[in-house]
Amino acid sequence: MPRAKPHHTQREQWATRIGLVFAMAGNAVGLGNFLRFPVQCAQNGGGAFMIPYFVAFLLLGIPLMWIEWGIGRFGGKYGHGTTPGMFHYLWQHPLSKYLGAIGMAIPFGLVVYYTYIESWTLAYSFFSLTGKYAGIQTREGMAQFLTAYQGGTQNEYFSNIGTAYLFFVITLALNFWILSRGLVRGIEQISKVALPLLFVFGLILVVRVFSIGAPDPAYPERTVLSGLAFIWNPDFRTLTDSRVWVAAAGQIFFTLSVGFGAIQTYASYMSKRDDIVTSGLATASTNEFAEVVIGGSIAIPVAVAFFGLQATQDVAQGGAFNLGFFAMPIIFQRMPGAEFFGTIWFLLLFLAGITSSVAMAQPLMAFLQEEFHMRRQTAAVLVGGLAFFLMQPVIFFLPYGFLDEMDFWIGTMGLVVFAIIEVVLFVWVFGSRKAWKEICAGSDIRLPRIFYFVIKYVTPFYLFVLLGFWLIQDGWSVLTMSHVPKENYIYIWFARFLLTGILLLMILLVRIAWQRKHVIAQKVPK
Ligand code: PHE
Repeated sequence: MPRAKPHHTQREQWATRIGLVFAMAGNAVGLGNFLRFPVQCAQNGGGAFMIPYFVAFLLLGIPLMWIEWGIGRFGGKYGHGTTPGMFHYLWQHPLSKYLGAIGMAIPFGLVVYYTYIESWTLAYSFFSLTGKYAGIQTREGMAQFLTAYQGGTQNEYFSNIGTAYLFFVITLALNFWILSRGLVRGIEQISKVALPLLFVFGLILVVRVFSIGAPDPAYPERTVLSGLAFIWNPDFRTLTDSRVWVAAAGQIFFTLSVGFGAIQTYASYMSKRDDIVTSGLATASTNEFAEVVIGGSIAIPVAVAFFGLQATQDVAQGGAFNLGFFAMPIIFQRMPGAEFFGTIWFLLLFLAGITSSVAMAQPLMAFLQEEFHMRRQTAAVLVGGLAFFLMQPVIFFLPYGFLDEMDFWIGTMGLVVFAIIEVVLFVWVFGSRKAWKEICAGSDIRLPRIFYFVIKYVTPFYLFVLLGFWLIQDGWSVLTMSHVPKENYIYIWFARFLLTGILLLMILLVRIAWQRKHVIAQKVPK
């Protein structure tokens, strides 16, 4: 039972329903769709990956989408746009708000490294346009180009990290400028422009890729179609490999932005009569279209056509950026209009990235505005300033695995843990009937009853199993740094220190906010 009646403070609300879906889809469609997905898919056997991927989409992705929209709209009724306030009303226990602090630490922690990667895409669209990397013909060459850009080495292209730093500052400033303009004039507006544009760019690239055929006469078997067949021919051989299942579920989480705490904030700006079921589904489907249809039809097929299947898988094995930042620029250069295609590829990434990074920063923004009554502009300067400060080690210690360490704890581990917390609180503590009612209220269509059981039993069970496998497979080796060279230990510990610091800061903020509320509540005469 909620303790207080919903209080109707002036909270912002989405201007239109289509604006809400655009913003939510902008939140979900990100670098994950175009960089992470092709790499994960290629690393885990293409068609073999897609089966666990769709299973995870149905049993984890969609239910969690509805759960998070439900929690978010519920919290919004009580004037809370972030999970500490939301959990406070779901579970009347002093601990609940602190569990909610995780839902601010995760998205903010993500901002700290995601925005840096996003800034590379802006820089690369600029480099494509001006022909800066023109002439580099090998993946090794492109790898050195990126390393020098990041300040890892020096070469004729970059003598220091200055260019990267400049693009990072521009990207961060753009993000917080959008946020300072507010929900409707900032986020909703930019999503309504960026998302359609991104689809146009994506479709142009897909059409271009499909018209390539077999580019190398010496290898007639290397075609775009063989690349597509790799993804779309179901392959049952690796279905018993738990790693493939874990990777597929991880991709579903990351790409749909579930388990982070960011969707709840966006959903809190809905009116209580707004529909969740169809809009949530529309968001998830838009994301999947962007991911498997567009994302899946660019990087892998084109790389297979030019390099062959084995080499493409080898490239993907090399890491998350190898396909997007190394292979693609080389491929574009072998086509007429290289500058044009390179520019729109990286611009597409940038647009996808920026509509996601504003969504990650919005929870902390909302918290400061609502719980500390801060002006939006002040909050933007503060959150932007804090991100700027914390991003310094990410930028300067990048070569030592700093970013990867953060990504594991936030982008892989953190979100499963947080998803478990929110599902248990909403479905089991708050109650499955009430949770179901929250999700279905205002719905345009009747949600089939089977999903009640999925949400109550299947999704939580799936999550626990996933967490178990994660701990066994990766958790221990990451924790003990078994793949880290000894001289990098210090940086890894620093990354962990930073992560702990972010979490403690959020807990502290929650504590102060609640203490102040308590004081205010005592002062108000009955
Ligand atoms: N879904 C985004 C992507 O695919 C990442 C993201 C996670 C965005 C959490 C917002 C919040 O890149």
